[in-house]
Amino acid sequence: MEIRELERAEIQDLWSIDRAEVIERIYTHRDGELVLQDQHHDVRGWPPGEPDQYGPLLLDCFDRDGTCCGAFDGGRLIGAMVLESRFIGRAKDRLQLKFLHVSRRYRGAGLGRRLFELAVSRARERGARRLYISATPSENTVNFYLRRGCRLADDVDADLFALEPEDIHLEFEIPI
Ligand SMILES: CC(C)(COP(=O)(O)OP(=O)(O)OC[C@H]1O[C@@H](n2cnc3c(N)ncnc32)[C@H](O)[C@@H]1OP(=O)(O)O)[C@@H](O)C(=O)NCCC(=O)NCCS
Repeated sequence: MEIRELERAEIQDLWSIDRAEVIERIYTHRDGELVLQDQHHDVRGWPPGEPDQYGPLLLDCFDRDGTCCGAFDGGRLIGAMVLESRFIGRAKDRLQLKFLHVSRRYRGAGLGRRLFELAVSRARERGARRLYISATPSENTVNFYLRRGCRLADDVDADLFALEPEDIHLEFEIPI
């Protein structure tokens, strides 16, 4: 397995990552607390329209020198991480982890953790103090970030919140 920078033409291949997931519980954010509730979703692939909506945003991110890395198994893209280059937050010291996905069959083997750690080290090199994550609210995803040390964002980004109001907005303090 190889992890390397993606070329611009490979950004469209992000949608070849197998997004399938059976979700039984999701988190909601109520009065500063995370609350788990039963909610069944059989996610078979990317939501309709997602590649059209987010593809141009990811290309824009690439064009302004964002970090786009893919994990490959025998030439097949099986996971990816995209880190924004544009600083956000009151102190303009946060970078958004814009995309982190691992293909279904490759989950639970440490790849997500490696891609997350790569995002942390790249963000640190760029001088960021925190990562900002608008996380899919599924139990598995949010627990993954909480176990990495992410916490509820205390400086929720209005634009990112408007884009994904159901997401759980998290921050990760980058160790110096
Ligand atoms: C959330 C997601 C990115 C996590 O990726 P992943 O590759 O499954 O995560 P990992 O395997 O690194 O971590 C999961 C656990 O497996 C553990 N693990 C299992 N086998 C392991 C191994 N051989 N080596 C290292 N870690 C292993 C990890 O330590 C980790 O446990 P921890 O969190 O308690 O430390 C992935 O599940 C995913 O793509 N989900 C669906 C899409 C999604 O929601 N993406 C995020 C959008 S915001």
